[in-house]
Amino acid sequence: RLQVVANKELNDSYFLLTLAPFSQEAAFSLPEILPGQFVQVLTEASGAFLRRPISVCDVDYARQQLLLLVQKVGKGTHALAHLTTSDTVDLLYPLGNGFTFPNQSSEAYRPLLVGGGVGTAPMLYLARCMRARGIEPNVLLGARTADLIVMRDHFEEFAHLHVTTEDGSMGVKGFVTDHPALREGAYTHIYVCGPKAMMVAVASLAHKRAISCEVSLENTMACGIGACLCCVENTKEGNLCVCTEGPVFNIDRLQW
Ligand code: FES
Repeated sequence: RLQVVANKELNDSYFLLTLAPFSQEAAFSLPEILPGQFVQVLTEASGAFLRRPISVCDVDYARQQLLLLVQKVGKGTHALAHLTTSDTVDLLYPLGNGFTFPNQSSEAYRPLLVGGGVGTAPMLYLARCMRARGIEPNVLLGARTADLIVMRDHFEEFAHLHVTTEDGSMGVKGFVTDHPALREGAYTHIYVCGPKAMMVAVASLAHKRAISCEVSLENTMACGIGACLCCVENTKEGNLCVCTEGPVFNIDRLQW
């Protein structure tokens, strides 16, 4: 169980939940968490039986804090939105496999991180981990409107930030696939998380431009540990559980 340190509403759709080990349990600290991994949260207050899968948005080991960017989509996530600093949360974590990236920067490695909607979440921790290895990533965030582009100041700490909005209220008007960074940028690796249609479109562009591309799939999950088979993705290697074999896959493995 982790303690709620803060729970901040970012707008009508998103909130940022900050969790930490109990302060009295000084011997317990956060385990190693890789960018792209996720947690399974029990939302006891909602009465929901199943845990909710949520991407790790950021980890601050100095403060021993785990940040989750959560979108309000149903009664489970609405219950999480109402947690206060007196509450604790039951988590299974860290789960799944993360993104792959080199140990140090080089001319041959120029990454672009693309996040759409709540798919923005894992890109922040990925950007932080890349910077820790001396890599300077570019990040492209997309949303319907400017108020749905969240955590810009956090991203600007670690990355060069580009934005698209469908209504043109911030950055380039249109979808992430309309942004010059994605269409023409000299990147060697693209990492994507967001709505499936967006990920397929980005993967298609990456494929055409012969750029390596990893996507973080958001298939419906229940158990999160490979037991219920409800998250299966049909890949070139057969049916694979996204929760244990992913959620991150190189597009070369998928039937897209
Ligand atoms: Fe149960 Fe993946 S969520 S097997």
